[in-house]
Amino acid sequence: MSLTFGWQSPSNIALVKYWGKRDPQLPSNPSISFTLDACHTQTRATFEPGQGIEVTLNGMGTPSFVPKIEQFLGRIQHRHPWLADYHLSVDTFNSFPHSSGIASSASGLSALALCVVDAAQAFGHSLLESDSRREASILARLGSGSASRSLYGGLVVWGQTPTVPGSHDEYAISYPHDVHPVFQDFRDIVVLVDVGQKAVSSTAGHALMEGHPFAAQRFEQAHAHMRALESILATGDLPAFLELVENEALTLHGLMMSSNPSYILMRPNTLAILEAIRRFRTETGTPIGFTLDAGANVHVLFPASAEQSAMPFVREVLAPLAKNSQFLTDRVGSGPVPL
Ligand code: PMV
Repeated sequence: MSLTFGWQSPSNIALVKYWGKRDPQLPSNPSISFTLDACHTQTRATFEPGQGIEVTLNGMGTPSFVPKIEQFLGRIQHRHPWLADYHLSVDTFNSFPHSSGIASSASGLSALALCVVDAAQAFGHSLLESDSRREASILARLGSGSASRSLYGGLVVWGQTPTVPGSHDEYAISYPHDVHPVFQDFRDIVVLVDVGQKAVSSTAGHALMEGHPFAAQRFEQAHAHMRALESILATGDLPAFLELVENEALTLHGLMMSSNPSYILMRPNTLAILEAIRRFRTETGTPIGFTLDAGANVHVLFPASAEQSAMPFVREVLAPLAKNSQFLTDRVGSGPVPL
């Protein structure tokens, strides 16, 4: 019997960053992210008795993706041994331009994890984790840590930390505390500074946290930031929020610059953009800030209420600093949807 399942699943952007891990893909510190909306992947997976994997990306056969999916299936095999008896065809569409520098692993792997969980249930295999969304978060995590957070909308926590009840290293949960409405419709404009392949992969970066001279302090700091966020998120304290989130972004890159070997993923225009954002905030009082992931692109964050002043600034000042003036317009989203 052949069965097809489809999911649309979003990317996410971390506010407190996961950086450093231990086997099997467990985080060295807690993280929290905004789930995105426009940046998503749509995946249809067809399971039929047999062997092998076929992949299309945006309608084109993409054999170069087969090893990545093979590796993912290998990592989740112990929870889904039935997969060994199935041929898998994966048809996947990314809403954001391929090679835009936006990682598709969070959206792509969370979408595929949801398809695997649906298939397991349809074929009558019981799940190790009775909550199917949680099972998908565990599977996505085994593929790529940050993918575990794409299974839920809004603010999502991955990694055990004392101030977030229910938080866990093996899966993500929806942020359980009160959130001020100002954070419910946040914008994320991704200014594309460098659209090429990253010089150093996240996998290599995580590994460099082992033996990093600042590792212990960093992991402590992430817990402290999670604690501090509780009242910031509840009261809607935007200045404190932007200060903390920017500190996290610069800390992430500071860790890269102080690892052994050290490396730099920011480009000159990344810094120019960060400085322009801070200057604009000081001069106009607009609650706008930035975060970075492990790359040169800048995520520009502001509440919906600041859009009128922030968007002209993005178009007129930031876009000219981007590669081919490119930016993506996104906002906080509500999580995966079945297709
Ligand atoms: O999920 P990975 O292994 O690609 O690591 C992602 C790490 C950061 O994006 C830099 C931070 C995060 O928490 O998403």
